[in-house]
Amino acid sequence: MVSLSDALQCTRCALSTTRTTVVLGSGPRSARLLLIGEAPGRHEDEGGEPFVGRSGQLLFRLLSEELDVRRDECFVTNVVKCRPPGNRPPRSNEIAACREWLDLQRHELTPLVTLTLGLTATRAVLGVRDPMDHLHGRPVELGSGVVVPTYHPAAALRQGPSVERVMRADLQVARRFLS
Ligand code: URA
Ligand code: SF4
Repeated sequence: MVSLSDALQCTRCALSTTRTTVVLGSGPRSARLLLIGEAPGRHEDEGGEPFVGRSGQLLFRLLSEELDVRRDECFVTNVVKCRPPGNRPPRSNEIAACREWLDLQRHELTPLVTLTLGLTATRAVLGVRDPMDHLHGRPVELGSGVVVPTYHPAAALRQGPSVERVMRADLQVARRFLS
């Protein structure tokens, strides 16, 4: 039987040849909020922790302001656990190869709310093909919790205040399920 700790030596896809660290995830197992991003970036690859760069700074500021939730109260992870070279999007074969680790994590945790950040995470978790503007802010019941898709914070960094406003509204949707 595989266990989650085996992921730290994983060579199931080619990203294993270019990564520095497997970025499995961080946070308490009892977290009520699970955050799922796309893939580690440079800072995450170096430090082994997800969302420690600029995207993470924005993400946790929004979570603090809209949900009054701190980083150490969430479980934070990504669809793909190793950094794609040059931060290219993960390929579908890499997402498929990495899937079991995310499934094991989701099995182990019992979050009330899962926030999927961007299309890669939303598609991986919900198995849908719709574009993000149809999916964001619409809660989907899954198991004993609910999935609330929103944009990736990198999109807000790129595109500015309009995306940030939409993310804040999506977080208010998530808030209803946390209280
Ligand atoms: N972007 C992500 O999707 N995940 C990270 O961990 C960092 C940046
Ligand atoms: Fe394994 Fe996932 Fe890393 Fe690929 S990305 S080597 S499947 S842990």
